[in-house]
Amino acid sequence: MARLELGRLGVAFAGPVVLASGPVGFGLELASVGDMGRLGALTTKTITRLPRAGNPAPRLADAPAGTLNSVGLTNPGLEAFRERILPKLQDLGTRIIVSFAAADEEEAGWIAQELGRTEGIDALELNLSCPNVEGTRPALEAGMTFRWVRACTDQTLPLLAKLSPDSQDIVGVAEAALRGGAAGLTVGNTIQGTRIDWNTGLPVFARVFGGLSGPALLPVALAKVFALRAALPGVPIVGTGGVTSLGAMLEMAMAGADLVGVGTGAMVDPDLPWRLTAELETWLVGREIARYETIISCAHRGGLAVVHGT
Ligand SMILES: Cc1cc2nc3c(=O)[nH]c(=O)nc-3n(C[C@H](O)[C@H](O)[C@H](O)COP(=O)(O)O)c2cc1C
Repeated sequence: MARLELGRLGVAFAGPVVLASGPVGFGLELASVGDMGRLGALTTKTITRLPRAGNPAPRLADAPAGTLNSVGLTNPGLEAFRERILPKLQDLGTRIIVSFAAADEEEAGWIAQELGRTEGIDALELNLSCPNVEGTRPALEAGMTFRWVRACTDQTLPLLAKLSPDSQDIVGVAEAALRGGAAGLTVGNTIQGTRIDWNTGLPVFARVFGGLSGPALLPVALAKVFALRAALPGVPIVGTGGVTSLGAMLEMAMAGADLVGVGTGAMVDPDLPWRLTAELETWLVGREIARYETIISCAHRGGLAVVHGT
């Protein structure tokens, strides 16, 4: 047996695998696939103050080694989420991270306050980085990130700031989020991409650009997590982007992720989060590593040779 549990953000997680926001919706269908209590946490689909229909079809397109999406934050809105969905999530036996987005920082602050007084939520994730909606992405700019996060931290739940790998200065943006009161970082969202339908000569998506996820994103996400861990040693990081195998999950942890987000991988293969958890435990036992936690950030500390020496 190896110990997978870890405490971050003041929350005890049963393991490092976190369902990323969106690809599996609110995660309710996955409850029939495996024991949610084995997973670290479920991040909800991003919710907004009012219901959102999202973007016109098509919303998904293939990419070499990945997926492009242009969903556009389809969700039933805060009230329906609180009344109809959250009570069902609370029965799943896993930690619940509620993702939210807003039109401006005042609205973001208002939603954070509302969620902050709602029972049964373990943490919040402020989606600053969705490439598929109108308006700018706050995560592309440090000043905006600071203001948005600051507006959301006058409540008691720990707040993760979800950053964008598209950001030119992700360390500067992360530092701004932490100054604003973020308790941790989710790194990160999809990166902007597009496809052209060469039969029509037109972009596939009505909004032209979509977000690239899946294995194609892995090296980019790893680079951002590595750079952030090097700059910000103690900060909790949820490393998300392209994790679809045990090897990719180990890379993400070794680069600096405390928790590892799985999105597209779980959408394509619903059993994956549980398989990753079981394979991680087997791998740790095979390497005679007693605790998952000891491999986190080991790429910054002399690698597995150092882990084995401890
Ligand atoms: C279909 C789909 C819907 C998504 N919806 C959201 C969302 O509502 N909020 C959000 O923060 N990220 C959303 N994402 C981004 C994922 O949470 C994740 O950050 C990204 O896909 C990279 O991880 P992955 O390669 O494991 O999918 C979505 C991704 C996909 C593919």
